[in-house]
Amino acid sequence: MSEQSIVLVAPELRELSGAAPEWPLGAATAFASPAEGPGVGFNTRVVAVVPLVSQAVGASELDRYPALRVVANYGVGTDNLDIASIRSRGIEVTNTPDVLTDATADLAIALLLAAARRLREGLELARSGEWDGWRPTQLLGMGLQGKVLGILGAGRIGLATARRARAFGMEIVYWDRSASSRMEVEAGATRYERLESLLGLSDIVSVHVPLTPETEGMLDATRLAAMKPGSILVNTARGAVLDQAAVAEALRSGHLGGAGLDVFENEPEIPAELRELPTCFVLPHLGSATREARQAMWELAAANARAVLSGSEPLTPVIA
Ligand code: DGY
Repeated sequence: MSEQSIVLVAPELRELSGAAPEWPLGAATAFASPAEGPGVGFNTRVVAVVPLVSQAVGASELDRYPALRVVANYGVGTDNLDIASIRSRGIEVTNTPDVLTDATADLAIALLLAAARRLREGLELARSGEWDGWRPTQLLGMGLQGKVLGILGAGRIGLATARRARAFGMEIVYWDRSASSRMEVEAGATRYERLESLLGLSDIVSVHVPLTPETEGMLDATRLAAMKPGSILVNTARGAVLDQAAVAEALRSGHLGGAGLDVFENEPEIPAELRELPTCFVLPHLGSATREARQAMWELAAANARAVLSGSEPLTPVIA
């Protein structure tokens, strides 16, 4: 009899996945990270891996699991995966789009409001016990009605954020490699092919591009300088799209009026200067953190692994 196959599931998914997820051909679940695996003697039985977006899967993990057939990422971003190495071994790659779009767009709007209405400073004043009463000019923020929101990346989450912002009376402009008719029709958005032009006219810029070699460091000091004075930057995509030190400097100098940041380059590290600046509202990567989204992400990742192991097409393969 052949040895029992193993599906490696990130231990952090134990609570969402139920005690004993079912897999084709009676494969067993091992709760371990891709870097650790089920252990020598068992690694050769691993046929599927479900990693978190914070867990790398590259050549060294792939060498450890010679029978691997699918990497079913628990997340929509795939920058934790070495996709070229995975594909070159004939292994399928999937992710979890759609099911976290609303949660992430909601959080982008929460950050946008937090930065525009100076919620961090307000919270600190309220909690300090030193608030001395209502004043007409206290902690004045930016009104959203009629302001321009620049969306970088016209994918699902960028579009969902734009649609929400329309309800606040914002005008939407966007930058993307390709035109998005949905952005233009559903959010009434105008496309700018030159990023600097969009940055110069946006009151708020919200980042929704995936992290790729092309987008890494895309908002560097020069591009941040091209942003409108007093404007606000929101990032729920990936930290490395920004030059974090340059963002801190732009906030310190007052060139940026505020920032709402959910993601950081070397998580879980959040640079001290971003944590400490009063105009910077930081969160610990909570974009998809709703009970509904996180459960749906597990169900989709598991369905992708099941499909590949039973010889069917995955529901949401990573394209290109
Ligand atoms: C993702 O899925 O890429 C998100 O960053 C997780 O919240």
